[in-house]
Amino acid sequence: MAEPMRVVVLVSGSGSNLQSLIDTVHEPGGDIEIVLVVSSHEGVPALDRAVRAGIATAVVGMSGRDRDERDRALADLVEAASPGLVVLAGWMSILTGEFLDRFPDRVINLHPSLLPSFPGLHAIEQALAWGVRYTGVTVHYAEEVVDGGPPILQEPVAVMYGDDAEALTARIREVEHRLVPEAVRLFAAGRVRRDPSDRRKVEIVPGEGE
Ligand code: GAR
Repeated sequence: MAEPMRVVVLVSGSGSNLQSLIDTVHEPGGDIEIVLVVSSHEGVPALDRAVRAGIATAVVGMSGRDRDERDRALADLVEAASPGLVVLAGWMSILTGEFLDRFPDRVINLHPSLLPSFPGLHAIEQALAWGVRYTGVTVHYAEEVVDGGPPILQEPVAVMYGDDAEALTARIREVEHRLVPEAVRLFAAGRVRRDPSDRRKVEIVPGEGE
């Protein structure tokens, strides 16, 4: 493990992925600590999960301002928490390049498909409508293009004949709840390296003894 890593998690809804981080990697004062959870909306269950875990919370909504203003306020708040990593765990609002430029190569996003298939909203319903045999989960670097940054971890999930959105979502969530903590552990161990000569390529540096 390299030095301790402070993590800020951005959420918008139920926060089951936040919960998986709280349960598996979050250790107050330890090697990985979630220091702040920011929600785009008031009153979402994700905020309750953070409060129950004793983690500081904030809400940064649009509230009558434009995206640039919202993102400046958000970036100031996030920067004040000195994060080594910012995790978008169900954050359902587009971030401007200005926000992302404040945390270069330190913002990662979670998406419920094997990107580049089915970016944007309703990825699971899109996969079902298409009839694909496999969809999956992607953890990737966030870039200004929605769901467009290079993948860090991906894992396929088989679509079963007769699946509805609820059944497929449940199996995708199980994979997400493993992949997001794994990505955070890899960052904390300094094992995620973006190739400086081809920034679409991401190397997972083998751990000791691998
Ligand atoms: C997750 O399935 C995540 O992949 C998806 O929102 C859900 C949040 O669940 N994110 C996106 O679709 C982003 N494009 P959670 O609030 O229970 O963690």
